[in-house]
Amino acid sequence: MSTPTSVVTPVVIAVDGPSGSGKSSVSKAVAARLGLAYLDTGAMYRAATVWCTRRGTDLSDHTAVAADVVAMPLEMGVDPRRPGVTLDGDDVAEEIRTTAVSAAVSKVATNLAVRAELKRRQREAIDAERTGGFSGGRGILAEGRDITTVVAPDADVRILLTASEEARLRRRALDVHGAADASAVEATRDQVLRRDRDDATVSQFEVAADGVVTVDSSDLDLEQTVEAVLAVVANVTGMTTASASSA
Ligand code: DC
Repeated sequence: MSTPTSVVTPVVIAVDGPSGSGKSSVSKAVAARLGLAYLDTGAMYRAATVWCTRRGTDLSDHTAVAADVVAMPLEMGVDPRRPGVTLDGDDVAEEIRTTAVSAAVSKVATNLAVRAELKRRQREAIDAERTGGFSGGRGILAEGRDITTVVAPDADVRILLTASEEARLRRRALDVHGAADASAVEATRDQVLRRDRDDATVSQFEVAADGVVTVDSSDLDLEQTVEAVLAVVANVTGMTTASASSA
């Protein structure tokens, strides 16, 4: 008689949204509670920016940037409690969050050859978690701008996390400047709105595509947004934090 094995059906959750929607904090918390791997695809575009800059490549030279990114020795850690980003073994998790990188990243993210290469790597990371990887085959939550539409349009759960412009500016000001007064909000305006405008030329993340569920976090705090996303996941897949911890 064969030994019974517990069969886990992998779950792939795709979350897209603009800057300041709370996407990263919410996605990490949801992945951790469900025992899933977590892939921050924005961090991959940021790491690509650091890599090309370190190599002295002119970010507006599309061909040179694409060649650098194809050869980029990037490792993405997918533990939602400590997601790591290393370039050639060098930990760049902090460097990718600097204002200089935030200001430059759209130049790299709007390069279509870069997008093709990173999409390939993102699909590979998602596929690895369907059968093994960090999650042991439980699955993955991947977040970005084009996950629901281009990278994983076949994901089991597809969510667009939105928030009003005012809420997004306030959150980003708090993150970057530690304050949300008028001058801090003004100082983040370029980072948030200009970047979203540039990024929207290559990905559609402002309106939900067919089959994508919108969660509006404008009037929700972090915990309430996490609960709202978990409710969508439970509704679509039946997966809950209780079923995750007993699996
Ligand atoms: O989410 P973030 O701020 O870390 O994203 C960094 C940049 O990468 C931002 O300019 C949007 C872009 N991006 C993208 O074009 N596609 C993705 N899947 C993720 C991020």
